[in-house]
Amino acid sequence: MKSPYIFLERPWFVVVALAGLIGGGFLISTWIRTSDGFLLCPLVSAKGRVSENYDTKPLQLKAILHYATSTIVPQQSISEISITLDVLKSVGRPCNFLVFGLGHDSLMWASFNSGGTTIFLEEDPKWVQNVLKDAPNLHAHTVQYRTQLQQADDLLSSYLSEPNCLPSNAYLRGNRQCKLALENLPEEVYDKEWDLIMIDAPRGYFPEAPGRMAAIFSAAVMSRNRKGSGGTHVFLHDVDRKVEKVFAEEFLCKKFLVNGSGRLWHFEIPSAYNTSRSNAARFC
Ligand SMILES: C[S@@+](CC[C@H](N)C(=O)[O-])C[C@H]1O[C@@H](n2cnc3c(N)ncnc32)[C@H](O)[C@@H]1O
Ligand SMILES: *[C@@H]1O[C@H](CO)[C@@H](O)[C@H](O)[C@H]1NC(C)=O
Ligand SMILES: *[C@@H]1O[C@H](CO)[C@@H](O)[C@H](O)[C@H]1NC(C)=O
Repeated sequence: MKSPYIFLERPWFVVVALAGLIGGGFLISTWIRTSDGFLLCPLVSAKGRVSENYDTKPLQLKAILHYATSTIVPQQSISEISITLDVLKSVGRPCNFLVFGLGHDSLMWASFNSGGTTIFLEEDPKWVQNVLKDAPNLHAHTVQYRTQLQQADDLLSSYLSEPNCLPSNAYLRGNRQCKLALENLPEEVYDKEWDLIMIDAPRGYFPEAPGRMAAIFSAAVMSRNRKGSGGTHVFLHDVDRKVEKVFAEEFLCKKFLVNGSGRLWHFEIPSAYNTSRSNAARFC
């Protein structure tokens, strides 16, 4: 009968095989070094291009690895996601991209905007830690909201009686009088002009949840106060819900709605800075 342990019975066989492996490995490694990697792949053949092709987009490689090995995918559909991706591509340069919410889509947004600045604002500090544990290079901050979903109707009917909420006066940093203003964000959020703003948080599906009222209002104020050229692209998810829809119509304006798919609306809001709109009595 043939023994399955042929290698153990014939130690010389093992020695020869090992010597072959080591010798072969040495030969190949010398070859690779002298031929400057020709054998491996053409990308690494020119030394200068190695860093260009690999070092500038590690985030995208990370995202591919993440989504290829994860069973949890982002909640937005491909047609919803494509609207934002198309805008990022059409801008044609790295963008300033502000995202309300931190979730399974975050690594995707950050890698779509690789080379740009993508900042995430999240209500739940524990969820921030949870997400950053697996994706430490995401840039995220915790935000405290001063509103609750159940106050949405009151906020909408009363904001015009608070001078600091009026479109002609509205600002964010330190604006405690206007409850719709996100007045306590990290400085870097106020210091940048945002090319794109995605509103897919905070939660707005139970009465005590913060709701998206303040995020929508604040995105409108940021867009109006933009000093750079071009408009601000604002994307709002879950517009099948009443509060999202009504606040969008009040602050982001149907006339600035340029695209949409599924539960996502895309607005392009022109700056009101030094235009006659800056004195208007209403946002829309
Ligand atoms: C409204 S969901 C949408 C997220 C995003 N569109 C996605 O695909 O993941 C995002 C918010 O849900 C909250 N959240 C809490 N637990 C979560 C979980 N296990 N998965 C995703 N989001 C969670 C976070 O506050 C987060 O900002
Ligand atoms: C709307 O979005 C879709 C999907 O990204 C895109 O193909 C289309 O060109 C967009 N339309 C406009 C008017 O931007
Ligand atoms: C504001 O006015 C200045 C000077 O007239 C102009 O250069 C700038 O483009 C304007 N900004 C906007 C956002 O319209």
